[in-house]
Amino acid sequence: MANYSITNNELYHENYKQASNNPKQFWGELAKENFLWKKPWDSVLDFDFSIPKISWFDGAQLNITENCIDRHLKTNANKTAIIFEPNDSNSSSEQISYKDLHERVNKFANVLKSRGIKKGDRVCIYLPMIPELAVSVLACARIGAIHSVVFAGFSSIALATRINDCDCRLLITSDGSYRGKKTIDLKGIVDEALESCPSVKNVLVAKRIHSDINMKEGRDQWLQPLLDDASIQCTPVVMDAEDPLFILYTSGSTGQPKGMVHTTAGYMVYTAYTFKNVFQYKTDDIYWCTADIGWITGHSYIVYGPLLNGATTVMFEGVPSYPDYGRFWEIVEKHKVSQFYTAPTAIRALAKQDLSFVTSYDISSLKVIGTVGEPINEEAWQWYHKHIGQNRCPIVDTWWQTETGGILISPMPNCYEGKPTYATLPFVGVQPVLMDENGHEILESKAEGRLCIKYPWPSIARTIWGNHKRYEDTYFSAYKNYYFTGDGALREENGHYRITGRVDDVIIVSGHNLGTAPIEDAINEHDQVAESAIVGFAHPIKGNALYGYITLKNEYSNQTELQSEINQLITTHIGPIAKLDKMQFTNGLPKTRSGKIMRRILRKIANKDSSNLGDISTLLNPEVVEDIIKNSL
Ligand code: PRX
Repeated sequence: MANYSITNNELYHENYKQASNNPKQFWGELAKENFLWKKPWDSVLDFDFSIPKISWFDGAQLNITENCIDRHLKTNANKTAIIFEPNDSNSSSEQISYKDLHERVNKFANVLKSRGIKKGDRVCIYLPMIPELAVSVLACARIGAIHSVVFAGFSSIALATRINDCDCRLLITSDGSYRGKKTIDLKGIVDEALESCPSVKNVLVAKRIHSDINMKEGRDQWLQPLLDDASIQCTPVVMDAEDPLFILYTSGSTGQPKGMVHTTAGYMVYTAYTFKNVFQYKTDDIYWCTADIGWITGHSYIVYGPLLNGATTVMFEGVPSYPDYGRFWEIVEKHKVSQFYTAPTAIRALAKQDLSFVTSYDISSLKVIGTVGEPINEEAWQWYHKHIGQNRCPIVDTWWQTETGGILISPMPNCYEGKPTYATLPFVGVQPVLMDENGHEILESKAEGRLCIKYPWPSIARTIWGNHKRYEDTYFSAYKNYYFTGDGALREENGHYRITGRVDDVIIVSGHNLGTAPIEDAINEHDQVAESAIVGFAHPIKGNALYGYITLKNEYSNQTELQSEINQLITTHIGPIAKLDKMQFTNGLPKTRSGKIMRRILRKIANKDSSNLGDISTLLNPEVVEDIIKNSL
């Protein structure tokens, strides 16, 4: 039997074995017994990685919001679904019950309908972490519109690129946002973006900072009056299992961001199941994930996973350092948080502060603490374990990706323990493998290689919006019949995995995936820049930071000014998260004879490891290397 709740080591192994030996039976049983369906499936799973084509629960019909909200109303209408904790610690938090959420989502869905939005239309959401963000996501799902949430730290150009890629018809935003001491003019960014987005006919604007903004007639409308007039009843649209639920963009090593498409039923089953077990969620727990809903972590483990389990999920608008570095722990104390899930970069930043920021608060409500987004180094793990977990809470170092929809490798409290820097064992139904340089699966247990997954799990992204060929090329062409993650990993004799990092040109900075190509494109826009190459270098807080090697067209005297112009270009094209920490102006970039930049060499120099660069004599221009080393920062 497929157990929804996995509470010990034996059950984990039993379920793992069943899900691997007989996946269709396992997932069929699990899905049937734990979710609401309008019509059962004809087939649990059909897939062919060589095409690639993957479908789960084909033929079934459902609406995910009925599973997230309606089905909890009978017994739990007054239970808090969402606790909203605002940026300003002096403002009161808001508790939204399942009943309130039902009404708010229905009203919002009716507003969308009144603007002509229907099943299959794309709706862009560009909002700060306020309740309207979660509500609008669910409102889209209620009526079958495909939501595309864009992180509200992205620039107008980045926003426009994402809107145009999937032809959004409507955009939801706010007048502005709070971020610690600062306010950000979101509507101004939207106005700029929409100058080049002809598909957007309607903009709904939530009031957050009450600033004086421009409202374009015929296009922009304040959200609240429309909500006030909307009905609290909205029949959920019947969705096919494989209908797209959302698009979420992630950086690729080259080209435009990739609009990963997640579909309805498989995503629902897998995010619910992983949430329940990785966090060992129990009925009265209060769960808090500090991510932004603009990233996959927020989609799966602030909104969908918790609500599918009838949980109480905290949404935090602010930043860990405001009004001071005790904010996270103040919130843990205030709401008696049981599960706390954050990024290693936040842990590293907090660990640098005085311990009194932690010890001033009672955080004894914590039961499980987690990390996501990048490898966690041993020192940060130990600090987290000792000072936040109080040597008693298990740490779940969860490895997964935008593309995987849910957690694939992670410790599971009560079932098997974590170990510093190890994501440990695969979740039920996940079959990771390591590949060698020749493209063969490494069979020895102790090994290092490229991490692939050899069998589909229900929440794997099904395609890249508008570009299935790119989906195939990126994930299924490096190793035939395997999903390639882009990560390297080590495996111990006991089967535990340690993720070592990206093996492509994606760099993870403060937990955010950044492709090098779009940053280089932004830099190259500067009229003085001839060429540039970006690499990552180890950074004590951010994990990785960006090092840019830049060749200029002419001698340029004011390098400080140039540096700030280049960072401004990056901010305009992508957002401040992609700014360079170091910029070195060079006379040339090391290239192969075919003209390809040798990033391997640049990476070593940026990481102060230039003693062993290998054979550089085959380069087109070996002479530039010495110069680069001499002037390295
Ligand atoms: O390199 C891995 C790293 O983050 C990448 C996925 O990034 P993104 O799609 O933005 O999703 C992040 C949130 C799920 C992975 O390919 N990564 C994520 N979690 C871990 C990690 N690296 C090491 N350990 C982790 N726990």
